[in-house]
Amino acid sequence: MPDRVIAGTAFHTPTRGRLEILENILILIDAAGTISEILPKDHPRSAEIRTRAERQCSLIELQDGQFLLPGLVDLHIHAPQWPQLGKALDAPLEVWLQKYTFPLEARFSDLSFAREVYSSLVEALLANGTTTAVYFATIHLEASLALAEICLAKGQRAFVGRVAMDDPHQCPDFYRDADASTAVRETRAFVQRVRELANDEDALVRPIITPRFIPSCTDALLEGLGKLAEELDCPVQTHCSESDWESGFVRERFGASDAEVLARFGLLRQNTILAHSNFVTDDDLTLIQQTGAAVAHCPLSNFYFANAVFPLRAALDKCVHVGLGSDISAGHSPSMLDGCRHALLASRARQSGVDPCLSAEERGVTGSAISVSEAFWLATAGGGEALGLPVGKFALGCKFDALVIDLHAPGSNVGWSPDLDTIEDLFQKLVLNATRSNIAMTWVNGEIVARSPFTPRKSG
Ligand code: GUN
Ligand code: FE
Repeated sequence: MPDRVIAGTAFHTPTRGRLEILENILILIDAAGTISEILPKDHPRSAEIRTRAERQCSLIELQDGQFLLPGLVDLHIHAPQWPQLGKALDAPLEVWLQKYTFPLEARFSDLSFAREVYSSLVEALLANGTTTAVYFATIHLEASLALAEICLAKGQRAFVGRVAMDDPHQCPDFYRDADASTAVRETRAFVQRVRELANDEDALVRPIITPRFIPSCTDALLEGLGKLAEELDCPVQTHCSESDWESGFVRERFGASDAEVLARFGLLRQNTILAHSNFVTDDDLTLIQQTGAAVAHCPLSNFYFANAVFPLRAALDKCVHVGLGSDISAGHSPSMLDGCRHALLASRARQSGVDPCLSAEERGVTGSAISVSEAFWLATAGGGEALGLPVGKFALGCKFDALVIDLHAPGSNVGWSPDLDTIEDLFQKLVLNATRSNIAMTWVNGEIVARSPFTPRKSG
């Protein structure tokens, strides 16, 4: 017998760009939070399963105007930058880091400050529908562990990284690892301690090795972390070819691209998450694809810091794994539905180009525009594939990570008239217009982890 049964209509994009609408289905979830069966509405066993689940109080029936979406995957978040959300975006990346961001991150040596910020962040992201989060924390071991513990306590699926950065030329004295061997030792301790928090293979919260980016790390640190990733079989995240300054810095130092340098140090591995990757060459994309690494496309923060738009279509055409990142706080929205909108807009800017002085033929890159279904896939199943996790779609064996969107929530901007709109139109409206107030419930691993205070209905 399943642990829980959900009855309702679901939208998902199990493969890139293909919207599937599952009308009036039953989703059966086992005790491990895994989808064990999906039954269509007229399946001969549906009535019996529904009755039994109702008797056992394990049936959750969506109400009129409620729809199920897969949980959203955010591949790139700087947790300590949460207090900085929505401000300090007036300087280029290299100035922003030194002037605003490093001083803020340095404050996370204070464990109680860290706990307060991280609790507020994880709650806000769950309420916004982010069921899987990939976090950069700070250089502080205990505060970074606190983030992992908070994700576990609040039920968010997460990868958490203790940031490593040791180069005195790029990192201030007040916020830097003492040296490469200290940073490697602390990273090793962090990985082991996060693994001890979880006691099964299926861990909800996992460690990820996190060199901040090439400019803030010495060669010794990059080498040490590459070896550690191999030894501990641990995933890696970093920034890659983000801006003119950053990619130029790496070329000057190594005579090679970010991706080539990361590969040289053993940091380009299966499921390595590369934030941005805006200035990648064709060869870089091939290398990223061959190693099984993935790009966290961060369209909003790219508008502020990147000096260019990520060549998303080229990456997808080369079968590179790609998902979306909010890049809090270089991106000022915590919502991955916003992330879908920003990815759509960035793709349109790339398609059309931006300089009206150029002719239409010279201005943009044909074929760059993505569809709403592609954007949604990036924020769900695409992100899941990037991480090698069975999330982001409603399929047998996948984890039940999901949102309930309520069209009738107070303050809803989503209007749906069955006379004027097809159900496919409704999906587009959900992706483009739903806000946090429409998210009535968030589920991770078969458990409700957030509930809107605006939803008086008693479902679940
Ligand atoms: N590169 C190195 N650190 C950061 C950061 O915190 N945010 C962004 N956007 N880029 C970075
Ligand atoms: Fe970032």
